[in-house]
Amino acid sequence: MSPLSRRQVLGWGLAGGVMTAAGAAGLWWGSRPPAGPGAPPGSPVSDGPGTGPGASGESLVEPEVFTSTGGVLELELEAAPTTVEIGGRQARVWAFNGSLPGPTLELSPGDTLRVRMTNRLDEPTNLHVHGLHVSPAGAGDNPFVRIGPGESHDYEFVLPDDHPPGTYWYHPHHHGHVAEQLAAGLYGAIIVRDADPVPVTRERVLVISDLTLTAGGALAGPSPMERMMGREGRLVLVNGMFASRLEAAPGDRERWRIINACPSRFLRLSLEGRSVRLLARDLGRLREPVEVGTVDLAPGNRVELLVEAAEGTSTLVASPVDRGAMPGMMGGARPGGTDPMDLLSLRVDGDRARALDDVPAGPEPRDLRGEDVARRRTLDFAMGGMGPGMMRGDGASMSFTINGREFDADRTDVAIRAGDVEEWTLTNSSPMDHPVHLHVWPMQVITGGDGGPQDEPRWADVVNVPAFGQVAVRVAFDDVTGRTVLHCHILDHEDLGMMATIEVG
Ligand code: C2O
Ligand code: CU
Ligand code: CU
Repeated sequence: MSPLSRRQVLGWGLAGGVMTAAGAAGLWWGSRPPAGPGAPPGSPVSDGPGTGPGASGESLVEPEVFTSTGGVLELELEAAPTTVEIGGRQARVWAFNGSLPGPTLELSPGDTLRVRMTNRLDEPTNLHVHGLHVSPAGAGDNPFVRIGPGESHDYEFVLPDDHPPGTYWYHPHHHGHVAEQLAAGLYGAIIVRDADPVPVTRERVLVISDLTLTAGGALAGPSPMERMMGREGRLVLVNGMFASRLEAAPGDRERWRIINACPSRFLRLSLEGRSVRLLARDLGRLREPVEVGTVDLAPGNRVELLVEAAEGTSTLVASPVDRGAMPGMMGGARPGGTDPMDLLSLRVDGDRARALDDVPAGPEPRDLRGEDVARRRTLDFAMGGMGPGMMRGDGASMSFTINGREFDADRTDVAIRAGDVEEWTLTNSSPMDHPVHLHVWPMQVITGGDGGPQDEPRWADVVNVPAFGQVAVRVAFDDVTGRTVLHCHILDHEDLGMMATIEVG
């Protein structure tokens, strides 16, 4: 049995346990495998082919790509309930333009992206372009916009000529509904092309997401405890598919653009038995690609990997990540799971491809360590006892705050002078990790934070601040002004109040 199918069996076992917990309602995977003859209900799912969706091993499909022409990309995005097939069964999800993920938007620096966004949900929504360095004002990347049910909004995002190339993404951002709408299926990739292309045989876009479905194929909501921990779906999908398959020829070099679109799940990825090279993280490119065995993505993070295909089959695995525990929960209530999950398999055989040119060095990244700091601040991320959430009756009995305050769109929490470089110490006084995300302006990690080459400037737009830990970042507030937000990218935490407003002007 291949490692892939073996671990799927483990996955089934887990789902069985979940079903017990979910009671009579049951979850999608509780009763029987989604496709093929499989095992009869109730029997252990451990006997050979047909026991899991991987037995079918569908080829990975990528979302439709829309590419800018003449410096402009114009399209309509409709957020609506729809039915898609996942693992051979019908699932009722919410998606952009009926596809999960939504279409991939391909841009170049200097381009203008125009989106007419229409809301066909029965609750408010809006659109955010995660990681893009564009104006948050007016019709731009404005997180305060409310698109009511049945309404549309015209967005215009203008990328500066020197916008860093990279892998970005879009998702709704209406406070109070963000985790729910991502978990339901609303997300898509954005690519900003490099000036000098990296020589590869092919590129792939891999959008990783998770969701939980009932046995009937409807979206299952989280418990109050799961909201406070940050919901993690029982199914982890790549491009909306479960345990899919990729093929390549020996000697192929692939560039994988990977997005963690899960509302709360951290991903520790490895391509078992192989080392790959890390080409980029969030934005821009590393100066030189670095060999890595595993890469960590907090929710919202992206990586670009160079995979040199060598004969054989390997599996892309997401290993569990310890992201802390709920305050006051002795031993229990620990998110993150305990078993590795197989995401897809890569099979390499056939004739050897012809060799490619070496990957040229990336441009020298800016380094704020040598620049003057106009102001220093501390932002503390905390979870406390009885929060106002208790009063809202949403079941979350804990408050989620930044510097002691829950989100209020009408209050300005951080006021900044345009053009300044600031240094922020992000502290976490809770026993759970908080991946901190700032809109519009990327952060350079100065101290703390996870690995990577230490001498090279480390840029990111989501920086994980470990439980009871701290990370210092510097941010250059130039070219763009306006009012936007920073928040924890465990989106349940954001929806429960762990978000602050920032105004640069
Ligand atoms: Cu990916 Cu404020 O969001
Ligand atoms: Cu964002
Ligand atoms: Cu958090």
